Amino acid sequence: MKLITAGSQDEMGVLAADIFAEVIHSKPRPVLGLATGSTPLPLYRELIKRNRDGKLDFSSVRSVNLDEYAGLPGTHEQSYRYFMNENLFNHINIKPENTYVPNGMAEDPEAECSRYDALVKSMGGVDLQLLGVGFNGHLAFCEPSDVFSNKTQYIRLAEITINANARFFSDPSEVPRYAFSMGIKDIMLAKKILLLAGAEKKDIIEKAMNGDITPQVPASVLQLHQDATVIIIKE
Ligand code: GLP
Repeated sequence: MKLITAGSQDEMGVLAADIFAEVIHSKPRPVLGLATGSTPLPLYRELIKRNRDGKLDFSSVRSVNLDEYAGLPGTHEQSYRYFMNENLFNHINIKPENTYVPNGMAEDPEAECSRYDALVKSMGGVDLQLLGVGFNGHLAFCEPSDVFSNKTQYIRLAEITINANARFFSDPSEVPRYAFSMGIKDIMLAKKILLLAGAEKKDIIEKAMNGDITPQVPASVLQLHQDATVIIIKE
């Protein structure tokens, strides 16, 4: 794993956007794996800026998001579909029909997981996977566990995740308890991985990069990826 330290959020956004631009320019129909959370926002701002300045074209880009809350429609302000539309898709020239997020309202969760896996496969896999990390080392919504997850799953969220995400909801009881999430194997199949972390994630990044590779710290699996970069903001 390669570690890059950024001096500020803006610098992290620029460095991460450079990596995105390289991948976007190197493929005719690139597939970007996208993530939510507050950490990727400086990157999304920089991508929007480059698109507006005519430096980065998303017209042939396809995107797949890592995860979505179960029970929230895409119109709900806290759904990840809404987040992506508001913070990226509505401001760049990506075709809306080329953006994919799991359907949080799917009536049959198992069928939705299979559908999402088949979709990613039909796209030829992910060229660049963006990741954030949870304080417990989770990737997407793959929580610490006894095994590394294989495929897209319908997951019960860990209490620490529910509490961390409660800040976005007016009433903490509204935080969904379940979510759809791509699996660790799906993430590891991406050709290139970029994990972004704020300074507050220093300890978990240290553990993920230098500790044991264990499903109890899902992000530690990235040590086994051949092209994974971490950008962290210095304290
Ligand atoms: C959520 C998302 C993760 C994200 C994490 C960290 O739990 N499912 O994909 O990495 O939050 O979010 P933040 O960047 O806001 O710390």
